[in-house]
Amino acid sequence: MAIPQHTIDQILDRTDIVDLIGQHVKLKKTGRTYSGCCPFHQEKSPSFHVYRDKQYYHCFGCQANGNAIRFLMDIEQRNFVEVMKQLSSQTGIELPKDQQDSKRLVYKKETPKKIAPQATATPQTKAAPSSTPTNTPPSHGLSFAYDPFEQYQTAPDFDEQGFDVHGFDTGFVNEAVVQEGNLYDLLENVAQYYQQQLPHSQVAQQYFRQRGLSNETLAYWRLGYAPEDWQHLEKVFPQDIAGLKLLGLIRTSDSGRDFDLLRERVIFPIRDHKGRVVGFGGRALNDEIKPKYINSPDSEVFHKNQLLYGLYEGRKHKAKDWLMVEGYMDVIALQQNGISGAVATLGTASNADHLTTLFKQNNQLTIAFDGDAAGQKAAKRTLDIALPLLNDGRELKFFVLPKEHDPDSLIRKEGLETFHRLWQQSPLLSDFVFALLSQNYDVSSPEGKSQVMAELNQLTELLPKHGSYRYLLKQFFREKLGINKKWQPKISLDASLSFNIRTKDEDFAVAILMHHPFLYIHFEVLRAFIHPDELLARVLARFDRVFDELPDDQELATYYILGACSPYHYELVEIMQRTNIQALTQAPEMADKLASEYSLSLQEKYVRMKLKAPGSLSESRNLRQHLNELTKRISLKLVQSE
Ligand code: UTP
Ligand code: MN
Repeated sequence: MAIPQHTIDQILDRTDIVDLIGQHVKLKKTGRTYSGCCPFHQEKSPSFHVYRDKQYYHCFGCQANGNAIRFLMDIEQRNFVEVMKQLSSQTGIELPKDQQDSKRLVYKKETPKKIAPQATATPQTKAAPSSTPTNTPPSHGLSFAYDPFEQYQTAPDFDEQGFDVHGFDTGFVNEAVVQEGNLYDLLENVAQYYQQQLPHSQVAQQYFRQRGLSNETLAYWRLGYAPEDWQHLEKVFPQDIAGLKLLGLIRTSDSGRDFDLLRERVIFPIRDHKGRVVGFGGRALNDEIKPKYINSPDSEVFHKNQLLYGLYEGRKHKAKDWLMVEGYMDVIALQQNGISGAVATLGTASNADHLTTLFKQNNQLTIAFDGDAAGQKAAKRTLDIALPLLNDGRELKFFVLPKEHDPDSLIRKEGLETFHRLWQQSPLLSDFVFALLSQNYDVSSPEGKSQVMAELNQLTELLPKHGSYRYLLKQFFREKLGINKKWQPKISLDASLSFNIRTKDEDFAVAILMHHPFLYIHFEVLRAFIHPDELLARVLARFDRVFDELPDDQELATYYILGACSPYHYELVEIMQRTNIQALTQAPEMADKLASEYSLSLQEKYVRMKLKAPGSLSESRNLRQHLNELTKRISLKLVQSE
């Protein structure tokens, strides 16, 4: 059974790891964590820790670690699916049912009325190859092969019995055969049909040409044309009326007459993430005809809210930079210009699912908006949706387009270079939000400042509770508004003293921690590996004790933590100066990014050190596994930041 990632995430969200592990291990709250004796190895003093905010456990003794699913798999020696079934019934979140799902994709095929049963009893028919549908009723649901027309080409004798619609041979089927059709196969056949109609229509070809699309692009996106005829699909797919109605491609008028949804329009087939055609968008051939676009309605296989036009194609091309735009034509124009990571929603507003899908491709995402008032409204709406998703170093940029342009027109009129430059210059979320919120107030007055801060506080409420971003953003605003007294080290240090000291990664980690105490969540995991003699180890231990009590305000938090680390005060202040951390982490996104990068590389370093002298076989195995994961994550980061 394939369980989609969003279901797994949902189930994990509803499962509390402390409660769950508490059923197997006696846990006690100590500082930020819950601890107990490790169930995976023999021990007398507790080195097994459970982190509620991270929904994660870690044993400092044998290095066993993971989430709730991993815990149940290991403790009960069960496989993934069994564990997911248990958690599904505990949380009430249903797993997909394969059987049921495939049933919904099936429709009943009809027999075309125009064919007399006698016609099949001609001598030629008997001589027909047994592979034709005349003689072989299919035993399964997937009766239509991907090229439905191929089978008829091997039996030329039947040609005269088919209908000829725009050069299409529709073939012939024995009346007695009752078949089941599959919606995906039907969609593929319809896509091929539309595609093959394009060469028959001068106007449609002219339309695409005038919009600058090359023949290669037409083929790549499988663009097509739906003819004028009100019943072309009925004629080409007489057996599949029921299926076409399920897909909404054939509709029934009040007077009971069937007609095609898409007529005299150029066609954009819409593919899902696996590349299967699941629906169509049809555009009018000129701007007088309304509506401009007609899309397939939602069906068993077409869920507009979960689809992104261009996602399949972008992934196939291993796109690195992803850009969310508004329309099909924008995606296509960008792809023709070598930008393969453009995607569009299907005429609906973007939602959290869309953004989550894109954040899985890359932590960095740009959303393009029109430069007008409507675009700004859309940007604000997207912001509300995006904020709760911003954790784990995710980064959002807002590409505000010049007035009167969409990406398609911009790239065509101004060229690829300009497009890239404007995209590159688009502000990070922090700058964008600041511009958005401050434009309505006089930020030189104290009243204006406090109003902006009040609006910001409302927005940051939407950010993930345990993430660092909400603190970083507030701090950034205070600095921009000139509210923050910048943190200044209390002693002035003789520069010659620090001149020759090499700055280690540990020092950067310490500096980041002191300046942005909430970034501790990135470094917490290091406690399991770091050598206890390191200053960083001692600082982390103090963080662990006071983190829950840290004041909300970033500046106060820094003072608080300096107090908690007072035995190392001078060392710390020197490090903060030497690393110039304040300048390095001006942008909140940068601070978060640096923290996660330093944490990863330090983890790698210390895991490697531990691996040289592991305590036991199982510890060595766990360390190795951890190292594998780290290397994967590090190389992913390298790719993303290239
Ligand atoms: P736009 O109206 O911005 O058009 O619609 P566009 O993409 O620039 O289209 P062209 O360039 O004139 O061809 C953006 C998207 O909104 C949906 C479509 O998905 C379209 O791509 N839309 C638009 C509809 O679903 N119905 C409509 O009537 C118009
Ligand atoms: Mn356009």
